[in-house]
Amino acid sequence: MLVLGFPDYAQPSEKLAAALDVPCRIADVHRFPDGESKVRLPAALPAQVIVCRSLNQPNDKLIELMLCVKQAREQGVRHLTLVAPYLCYMRQDCAFEPGEAVSQHIIGNFLAGLFDAVITVDPHLHRISHLEEAVPAARAIALNSAPLMAGFLRSRLDKPLLLGPDSESEQWVRRIAEYCHADYAVARKERIDDHTVNITLPALDYQGRTVVLVDDIASTGYTLAVAARQIKASGAAAVHCLITHAIFAGDTEETLVRAGVENIWSTDSIIHPTNAICLTGLLADALQPGK
Ligand code: R5P
Repeated sequence: MLVLGFPDYAQPSEKLAAALDVPCRIADVHRFPDGESKVRLPAALPAQVIVCRSLNQPNDKLIELMLCVKQAREQGVRHLTLVAPYLCYMRQDCAFEPGEAVSQHIIGNFLAGLFDAVITVDPHLHRISHLEEAVPAARAIALNSAPLMAGFLRSRLDKPLLLGPDSESEQWVRRIAEYCHADYAVARKERIDDHTVNITLPALDYQGRTVVLVDDIASTGYTLAVAARQIKASGAAAVHCLITHAIFAGDTEETLVRAGVENIWSTDSIIHPTNAICLTGLLADALQPGK
């Protein structure tokens, strides 16, 4: 067995290989001036390969994964697992307007057609509950970062109030709250456009509380920033953010700091300076033989 990483996710791939006690090789990727990619794999590959790459900024990566898998099969690889700690295109799970492509199904089927197994962490599944409904691979595993998140919070804060900014976040905030025996609540969100959201906080006494905003994804950061401003204005002593996937598309960190957020903590599903929680052990456990 071998872990095959890519240059943009080399360190987590090496850590995963070390945890599994298997070799790690990094594929060579060249981007031509016209935007096309060339992918070169090691000349010798074992029968079983784990491809490790997180799928933020996904468009080029999806093409490169296809090139990688087709070439690996040419070289005799029989079993390919994708470890994508962040799984892209899961939010567009239905056609909100006629004619909209349902990216979750299309990309899910694309990946299932390439890989024998797909493993990810906290995928954005909202209207469905099982990853295989979105990614119909022979094995589709959605790992849950809640125990790690809860352990991290317990080591940092005493009796925080956990708050999800919208109904979709309830699944994550509820699980983390259960693991760390904390109070939790969920706000209501209305999305106007990519950079505008309205948040209605649940009617609670925020005075003097330490509030942790919990969500799976921070992209522009506006969801968390709008919630953070209101929580601060309601008298909270401190607001922190805990997120699985630090997509951070643009000046997200500044947006959150300007809104009064003290700490931003993320998992290393996407490499970012806010990473505070390492997923290697969780991923390695899921890859143990017999799992
Ligand atoms: C959607 O429901 C997700 O859970 C996040 O709340 C959303 O992607 C955050 O986006 P942004 O940071 O751009 O507000």
